[in-house]
Order: sequence, then structure tokens, then C-alpha cells
Amino acid sequence: MGVLREVVEADLPVFYEHQRDPEATAMAAFPSRDRDAFMAHWARTLANDSALTWTIVCDGEVAGNIGCWEADGRMLVGYWIGREFWGRGLATAALAEVAEIVDTRPVQAEVVTTNVASIRVLEKCGFIQVAAHVGDDGIEELVLELR
Ligand SMILES: CC(C)(COP(=O)(O)OP(=O)(O)OC[C@H]1O[C@@H](n2cnc3c(N)ncnc32)[C@H](O)[C@@H]1OP(=O)(O)O)[C@@H](O)C(=O)NCCC(=O)NCCS
Repeated sequence: MGVLREVVEADLPVFYEHQRDPEATAMAAFPSRDRDAFMAHWARTLANDSALTWTIVCDGEVAGNIGCWEADGRMLVGYWIGREFWGRGLATAALAEVAEIVDTRPVQAEVVTTNVASIRVLEKCGFIQVAAHVGDDGIEELVLELR
């Protein structure tokens, strides 16, 4: 059985809490959004026909989210799991499921070099490293791709 379902409005406050976790933001090197900014971001995402999003569920609970979107002609994927659900294979299961649903290739993910758990998730799903770059903020990121 899969771990994905459609996003419903009631999931958003749970996603909001997940992205506020200091350990998670440090891991992803991605700052948390305040509530208004977070809800505005999700309103835009849900209204964007070229963005696909799913809620990741575990034992009936909202465990995280995963999404694909187009940016500058590239198809990108990103995901976030609530800390209490880490280490159960959920990100891997969710990404593998998305790779089955979405036909577009390549699909790319950008990940900071220090985020070894996320790099491992991508590699387990068949992504390979295709580039590395240092952003304006001095943070080094890898680009991994599923072909
Ligand atoms: C990164 C993240 C998505 C992983 O989710 P998860 O559901 O725990 O991942 P999984 O359980 O599917 O797989 C994690 C893998 O990383 C490995 N791992 C975890 N921490 C690790 C570490 N510190 N060093 C090396 N490997 C590590 C696990 O052992 C596992 O690999 P294995 O199956 O070969 O043992 C989750 O921690 C998260 O949401 N973090 C915050 C947001 C984020 O970083 N998003 C991704 C941005 S690119």
C-alpha cells in the first residue's frame, strides 16, 4: 500500500509544524516560514496547475509532504518529513511512489551536501549526482537527477 494521498486543508497546520522544527531546518538548510508566509506559499502551490503535491501518511497520521514543480524548464522534487517519523523509510517510499506517478524525466532534486539522509533517500530511489554548486549564501548544494 502506498504512503501518498491528496493534500487536504487540514494537513497544512501539520506541515507548518514540521517545517518549524529547528533540527529539520538545519538539516535542509532551509529557513522556516512564519504562519502567514507558510499558508500563502501553500495557497499558491495548490493553485498552481504545474505543481503536484501529496501528503505522506503513516498509520493514518500526517507524516509529511512531497511535491514536484517546474522551475526554469526543470522538474524538481522536494519533500519534508515530520521529525517524529524520521528513519522509518517514509521519504524513500514517498519518493519511489512519486517517481512512478510522474512520467517526466529527468526529475531533479537540490540538496545541501551536509544532508546525508536526504542524499541517501535520493540514491535509494535511483537518483545520481549530476552537478554541485555553491549558492550566493555560500552553501554548497548537489543536484541529483532521476533519468
Ligand atoms: C531527509 C528526510 C526527508 C529523510 O526522511 P526519512 O523518512 O527519515 O528517510 P528514510 O527513512 O526513507 O531514509 C533515510 C536514509 O538516510 C539514512 N540516514 C539518516 N540519517 C543519516 C545520517 N546522519 N548519516 C547517514 N545516513 C543517514 C538512513 O539510514 C536511511 O538510509 P538506509 O535505509 O540505507 O538505512 C527527513 O529527515 C526530513 O524531512 N528532513 C528535513 C527536511 C529535509 O531535509 N528535506 C529534504 C530537503 S532536500
